[in-house]
Amino acid sequence: METALPIAHAWAGRRPRLHHQECGVGMQVVTLLGRPETALQALRMPVPQGEGGTFMQGHMVAKLLSFKRLYERWPQFMLVLLGENGEPIARGLSVPFASQLPGRELYPSHGWGKVAVWAAEDALDDARTDTVCALEIMVHPEHRGKGLSGMVLQAMRENAKQLGYSRLIAPVRPSIKSDEPSTPMEEFVNRVRSDGLPVDPWLRVHARAGGKITGIAECSQTVQGSLEQWRHWTGLPFHEDGETVVPGGLVPVLVSVRQDIATYTEPNVWVLHSI
Ligand SMILES: CC(C)(COP(=O)(O)OP(=O)(O)OC[C@H]1O[C@@H](n2cnc3c(N)ncnc32)[C@H](O)[C@@H]1OP(=O)(O)O)[C@@H](O)C(=O)NCCC(=O)NCCS
Repeated sequence: METALPIAHAWAGRRPRLHHQECGVGMQVVTLLGRPETALQALRMPVPQGEGGTFMQGHMVAKLLSFKRLYERWPQFMLVLLGENGEPIARGLSVPFASQLPGRELYPSHGWGKVAVWAAEDALDDARTDTVCALEIMVHPEHRGKGLSGMVLQAMRENAKQLGYSRLIAPVRPSIKSDEPSTPMEEFVNRVRSDGLPVDPWLRVHARAGGKITGIAECSQTVQGSLEQWRHWTGLPFHEDGETVVPGGLVPVLVSVRQDIATYTEPNVWVLHSI
């Protein structure tokens, strides 16, 4: 049975709300409002073996905005694409925040992490929010490569619009940047194909959906840990000072053997979707 969940105060008065969008044969996007079962299934979406990025489990801000908290606080901003049999095949998570409060800005250099903290502050303070920020789009491994990510992004834009917002911003993690961890992000994002679209496939999805690159968030996601933790997360030795390339890392990790610490500071790409 579906149970209605509490609505976040900051946007409780905004209407109309999206409950589902039809998207293709047998598929629909729904919000998680009143759908605890779907939320549980969407949370359990598997990560393919060897995908890399397992070190992200040490991302402290991401722990603050866990899936459970996101879903309990902002169910209307949590989208799930359901397949023909009603099973979740992709999810798209976003949060509202107030970009115009003193000390805030629309595209902070601390990207994903900064907006996540602001969204949490705004929820605690019941602040009036003006911008939606994408946190994640994930497609079930068995359904990748079928163009579903663009569908979820479109639904996220539409959802933000229906909730009364005029912009969605996204700290985008270019999906093939990890093939070139030493290339500066600025150089990487400027690479375009002959049709003018970004070389990176994930940036291309955003560009096709109408997104505009507005800058680089140099320190968007940070993971710090002891060398023992890093060995556990990656299986690598971490016995030398300096830069170490890790699977799934968009940039190398900086290692200090004397301090017994390694730090990963990931740059993301700010993309604006005016809606
Ligand atoms: C990134 C992700 C969301 C893409 O979803 P998807 O539905 O498989 O992607 P699509 O089928 O819509 O393809 C999008 C583009 O990427 C390309 N692409 C897909 N898989 C690719 C691959 N393995 N290597 C290179 N390009 C690829 C497609 O050709 C397409 O580009 P095009 O239309 O210009 O040809 C999905 O791989 C995923 O869930 N990854 C893990 C989570 C993640 O990294 N999310 C993004 C950051 S939040």
